[in-house]
Amino acid sequence: MRHLLTITELHNEEILGILLEAQLFAEGKIWTPTNDKFVANLFFEPSTRTKFSFEVAEKKLGLQVLDFESQSSSVQKGETLYDTVKTLEAIGANAVVIRHPQDHYFDELVNGISIPIINGGDGCGHHPTQSLLDLLTIQQEFAHFQGLNVVIVGDIRHSRVARSNADVLKRLGANVYFSGPKQWMDEAITKGNYIPMDEAVKISDVMMMLRIQHERHTCKMISSKEEYHQLFGLTEIREANMKEKSIIMHPAPINRDVEIASSLVECERSRIFKQMTNGVAVRQAVLKSALQHKGEVVFNG
Ligand code: CP
Repeated sequence: MRHLLTITELHNEEILGILLEAQLFAEGKIWTPTNDKFVANLFFEPSTRTKFSFEVAEKKLGLQVLDFESQSSSVQKGETLYDTVKTLEAIGANAVVIRHPQDHYFDELVNGISIPIINGGDGCGHHPTQSLLDLLTIQQEFAHFQGLNVVIVGDIRHSRVARSNADVLKRLGANVYFSGPKQWMDEAITKGNYIPMDEAVKISDVMMMLRIQHERHTCKMISSKEEYHQLFGLTEIREANMKEKSIIMHPAPINRDVEIASSLVECERSRIFKQMTNGVAVRQAVLKSALQHKGEVVFNG
């Protein structure tokens, strides 16, 4: 793997290889590069989990972290994203992690940038490392994907997590269903696999809840949070109808008592904070894989 831009570009074998290595990192395996290597984290959109779990992953790998602040950078003087990344490459960055509000921002980078680009989320497009950490969490729970019923619930149209996960989970053999307001179902993702929420909780092995992406809406799209919670949220009553071994996931940030009852966020079925913990191991595996592409960086361990 050189760049990691979308989960679609990874073959199933590559995905399973990253998950295997991520599991080793999760169990405490240490790999470090043989000499100093630098990674720059460029976040043009807010982030807590992705930004800091990349930073922890980089530090655990023994990488030097260049913390790019767009507000104090020459982006403020009109420098393009391409010129910014080209500059970081010129001064010695060995890889860049980028989150950006524009879908497919990386299309303008891939032809001229030689160092690995790892996508930390592009607009409504893709979030491949979130997808990988979700897969690791599911694999730890069930040991396989084949035949699992995964229901993704909420603002599908504006969710890069839904887009990334729908693709890869189907490829790995899961049955993927979608629930939530009909106007947020994007047929290109859902392909007719809609299921009402009260049915969804009964058949699911994984309930994957999503935040309403208000920042990507052009007009007010729900009448009230309370109404949304009753119609489409994971309420305590619905949770009581889930199968014994089913789990709850959410990429977070969470809007408590909107898409999920606050009391369920840390309930026995919830793997939400486990997902975040897994995010570090997955990002260690992704960074290692990208940096050691064609033997450019050698890792000891
Ligand atoms: N899940 C996720 O991407 O969270 P952040 O926006 O906090 O990085």
